[in-house]
Formats: sequence, structure tokens, C-alpha cells
Amino acid sequence: MLNPFNPKYPVRPELFANRQNEIERFRRDFKRTIDSKLPENIAILGDWGVGKSSLAYKFMDIGAKSNVKALSSGFGVPRTIKDVGEFCYLLLYKLNQDLITSKGISSRLKDELLLWRTDQLKLGPFTMQRNEKETPKIPITHLHSGLIDMWKSLHREGVEAVVLVVDDLHHLLQAVKGGILDVRSIFQDLPRYNCNYQLVITGYKALFSEIRELAEPMGRFFNTYEIKEFNKNEAKELINTPIRAAGLDIKVTEDASDFVYEKTKGNPYFVSFFMQMLVEERKKGVIDVQFIKDRVSKIMSELEREKFGKDMSIASELERRVLKKMIDKQEIVRLKDLCTGKDKTKVAKALNRLVEKNLVVKVNRGEYKLYHPLFKEYLSSGRAK
Ligand SMILES: Nc1ncnc2c1ncn2[C@@H]1O[C@H](COP(=O)(O)OP(=O)(O)OP(=O)(O)O)[C@@H](O)[C@H]1O
Ligand SMILES: [Mg+2]
Repeated sequence: MLNPFNPKYPVRPELFANRQNEIERFRRDFKRTIDSKLPENIAILGDWGVGKSSLAYKFMDIGAKSNVKALSSGFGVPRTIKDVGEFCYLLLYKLNQDLITSKGISSRLKDELLLWRTDQLKLGPFTMQRNEKETPKIPITHLHSGLIDMWKSLHREGVEAVVLVVDDLHHLLQAVKGGILDVRSIFQDLPRYNCNYQLVITGYKALFSEIRELAEPMGRFFNTYEIKEFNKNEAKELINTPIRAAGLDIKVTEDASDFVYEKTKGNPYFVSFFMQMLVEERKKGVIDVQFIKDRVSKIMSELEREKFGKDMSIASELERRVLKKMIDKQEIVRLKDLCTGKDKTKVAKALNRLVEKNLVVKVNRGEYKLYHPLFKEYLSSGRAK
């Protein structure tokens, strides 16, 4: 039996549920990209675990399956990225690799791409995996010429566009603030060389808005798709679509999916976490409220091990104290509720770091909340170290 739920990976496009508006909007932006030969670049923005990567990979799939000749590639910016040079290398490396393994490309194109890899990335023709620990760096001008070079080969094959996903762009921004503007200027220049790379990036909601110098140029460069947690009906779809698509003989009652919604508040990571365990235990038949209630504590302890324990392990002593203080307050907490005048600066800094670590969400200026009620439940249980 294939379990179609796995919260650790972006969902496979054939199991994807909801987001009809975004999908429709993408189809239009993709068509414009093809028709005008000017890419409509997209920024998918949203909070932790809300489904940004899944949506970006769905867009790659739509591009690759469209009735025009289009290819797609994607990579996630690693948390450990240190500078723009590494970013440039990773982008070209992954693009080259994805194009080589694309379905339906000619052996001539494949040979050209392999040659390019040896010449420009200094990799042997059959090296699919790099072994060195350090990511090589290349100057940003090489990213520019590399993208143009590869496009020449693609153009000869009649390729009309490449959907290029850069997942978790905030990691680059955390490492180098201005770096993103360099990347933008490269992509803005490419249409002059008839290249049609449609950039789809994902990142946290405040990716551009928090830094004044970025807000305007980035806002103009990207069409922004802001996504949120699912509502009750969408949560039902999120539960039933993968079950149906995987052909499982499982029925989830209405009450049961409402129960999952109440627990998870429609956050797809948590819905997927619940459903992975429930499907594992049920295999066949009906999942009703009682079936779930009997397993809630088991799911919670699994969540503690897989998620909340890891969350706490990246928090400092002070940050943990701030988190625990937040339990007793209303859902939305103000900075002044958490500190005395004396330690205000320290607590404010800790809150900012907790936001960066995705354990706290900034609701407004000076207003914060814990990232999810289930995390709050864990902190309140006394089991959090
Ligand atoms: N539209 C969807 N259909 C089905 N499952 C989904 C959908 N969106 C998200 N999921 C599920 O939710 C989980 C979290 O989604 P995803 O990894 O895409 O979120 P994210 O916003 O990229 O998270 P992060 O902030 O950690 O990068 C996925 O593992 C997947 O199982
Ligand atoms: Mg993601």
C-alpha cells in the first residue's frame, strides 16, 4: 500500500489538493511567458509549512506537461548557504542536471549539456553527485553567461520556456541581504538575449517587505502569490484527494476530517502528519472520530519526537524561557507583556531570533504568537525541556 501522506517532502503533483486560484493564475502567467517571450516571475510567499514548496513543484509539473515545449528545474537554497557565489553554482549545477534528465530531449542536446557541465562546472560527464564538502563558488557574471549558453542549446531544440524553481530563497537573504538584487538584475537582463527562464521562488511572508530597499524592486519583479493555511472545506480535500489518487480503500467521515482540522487548524504539514499515521494504522476501512481520539496521544508523542523536540533543540536558554512565558498569555502577545523595562532589548532580540527559527510568528509590529496551537499544547504539557 502506498501511503500518500508524508509531511517531510513536498507533495507529489499527482496527489496535490486545492489551490485552484493559484493554479489558474499560474496557467495564465505561464501562457503570458510563452506568448510574450518575457517571463512572468512568481514569488510564492507564506508562513512555515503552509505548502509553498508543494505549490512550486506543482507549477514545475504544469509547465513540463503543457502543450508547448517547456522544461522545468528546481532546487532548494540550503540553510548553510554563505554567499551569492555558492548560489550561482548551485543554480547552474541543478539546472544542467535537471535538463539532462528531462524526458523527451534529444541525445544531441544531452551531449551539449554534458559538455557544458565538463567545461563550465568542471564536473566529469557522468558525475551526478558531487562529493566535496564545500560548495564551489562562481562569480555572478558566470551565472549570466551560463544561463545564456544553456539557452542557446535549448532554443535550437524548440524549447519555449523553462520553469525554474528556487525554493526557500530566504536562506540566501539571511546570508547576504543585497545578494538578491544581484540575482534579480541577472534575470531582468536575460530576455535581451531571448532567454525565457520563468523564475518561481518561495520564501517567508515578509521576505521582501521587511527590508525597505528590497520591497519596491522585488515587488515589481515578481507576481506575488501569498498562500495561507487551508479552511475547513479545503482541509477535507487535503485529506481525501491523496487517498483517492492513491486508490486506497479508506473512508474518512466528515466529523473525523473536521476533528483533524480543529487540531491542525488547516496547516498542511500537521494535516499530513496526522494522516500519515492514521492511514498507516487503518490501512483499509473507516476512519472516524473515535479512531482518531484513540490515537491522538500517540500522534502527539510522535510529533514531539519528530518536530517539537527539534524545535526546542535549536532555541537558546533565553529563547526557551520566552517561549514558555508565552504559554500563559493570550494567543497574541505583546513585547511589553514578556519583559520588564530592563531586559526589553534582550527579549526583543530573542523574539526576532525565534521568528527567524519559525517558532514564533510576528503578527504585527511588536505583536507575536507561537507558530501553532499544537506547539503551545506541547509547551504547556510540561514535557518541553
Ligand atoms: N496542496 C497540497 N496538497 C497535498 N498536500 C499538501 C499540499 N500542500 C502541502 N501539503 C503537505 O504539507 C506538507 C508541507 O508542505 P510544504 O513542504 O510544501 O510546505 P512549505 O511551506 O514549503 O514548508 P516550509 O516552510 O517548511 O518550507 C507537505 O509535506 C505535504 O505533505
Ligand atoms: Mg518548503
